[in-house]
Amino acid sequence: MARIAVVAGDGIGPEVVAQARKVLDAVLPGVQATEYDLGAARWHRTGEVLPDSVLTELAGHDAILLGAVGDPSVPPGVLERGLLLKLRFAFDQYVNLRPSRLWPGVAGPLATVKPGEVDLVVVREGTEGLYAGAGGTLHRDTPAEVATEESLNTRHGVERVIRDAFARASRRERRKVTLVHKTNVLTHAGSLWSRAFEAVAAEHPDVATEYQHVDAAAMFLVTQPQRYDVVVTDNLFGDILTDIAAAVTGGIGLAASGCINPEGAYPSMFEPVHGSAPDIAGQGVADPVAAVLSAALLLDQLGHPEAAARVTNAVATELANRAPDVPLRTAEVGDRLAGYAAG
Ligand code: NAD
Ligand code: IPM
Ligand code: MN
Repeated sequence: MARIAVVAGDGIGPEVVAQARKVLDAVLPGVQATEYDLGAARWHRTGEVLPDSVLTELAGHDAILLGAVGDPSVPPGVLERGLLLKLRFAFDQYVNLRPSRLWPGVAGPLATVKPGEVDLVVVREGTEGLYAGAGGTLHRDTPAEVATEESLNTRHGVERVIRDAFARASRRERRKVTLVHKTNVLTHAGSLWSRAFEAVAAEHPDVATEYQHVDAAAMFLVTQPQRYDVVVTDNLFGDILTDIAAAVTGGIGLAASGCINPEGAYPSMFEPVHGSAPDIAGQGVADPVAAVLSAALLLDQLGHPEAAARVTNAVATELANRAPDVPLRTAEVGDRLAGYAAG
């Protein structure tokens, strides 16, 4: 039976993860879930962010379900870098998979788009780019202060994520991959991404390709999200574009993600795209759908496609029946989803 590590984290993290667990229990009875107390509370209590012993224990699980990390009472970056990014990097989760669909019943903000018309997936590079942590500060707190932040791009790292995007596209109906970068300005990394993209594309004559600069892609995601099938891009561009993709498909409360190590050498991690939402934490009003759909991605990754489909269908039922103006209660949505998924 699957052994899952649960890192509920901060803010609304525990609220939405509790619902994802109800749904997991409903479709995969006997699943073993172990809770790990990591995040702001632990840091305040002990000064620890992610002890090596915990990292080792997490490595022994089949997958990780994560809520959200980050809290206004903790300096920016301590938890985001020390916990979330450390897990993505340590477990070589180089495919950050972020699907977006406009579900029937969901009133998206775009008058030009009908439900069912948007079905895209962003394959965001997860271990390199501007997130790698290269850079530094000189002459801190003087008028001469200089801060640099360098983007790390390796042929190995770029090619493997592009390869994953093409493999995914060739299993989809439209079989199209869009590379998004900024090759007109970022000429070093842009050239590497373009050449790797062309090399992998040559191995997939059945997959259509296109290239867009990231500024244009940001615009087209808002004006014509229907045009995308698989989008492959670097770590920071993917971070920003997936919040846009979420916004145009009904909001960040519906956006799921998987931080995947495709080889299975390490556990993959599944988490909503959203953060800890301090503005609504503790009120029981966060939408748990993103966390529940992340659990569906987890089930797929662990080889339980039928269970994953039951969860996805439960979400479809929930969203098709949602009254637009009725405020939602997190736990009630979780109970309904678990009920639908149990069948
Ligand atoms: P956020 O995603 O937490 O919140 C942005 C807005 O979306 C807020 O108004 C929030 O209320 C709303 N929102 C988010 N999730 C929602 C849900 N499930 N249902 C309804 N509304 C929802 O982003 P932020 O405010 O930029 O960041 C808050 C903290 O979370 C920061 O510390 C940040 O570093 C962290 N963060 C963590 C993750 C993660 O753990 N994967 C992701 C993003 C941000
Ligand atoms: C996300 C978040 C993270 C990211 C932060 C919290 C490190 O915004 O998962 O999208 O930038 O990847
Ligand atoms: Mn983000």
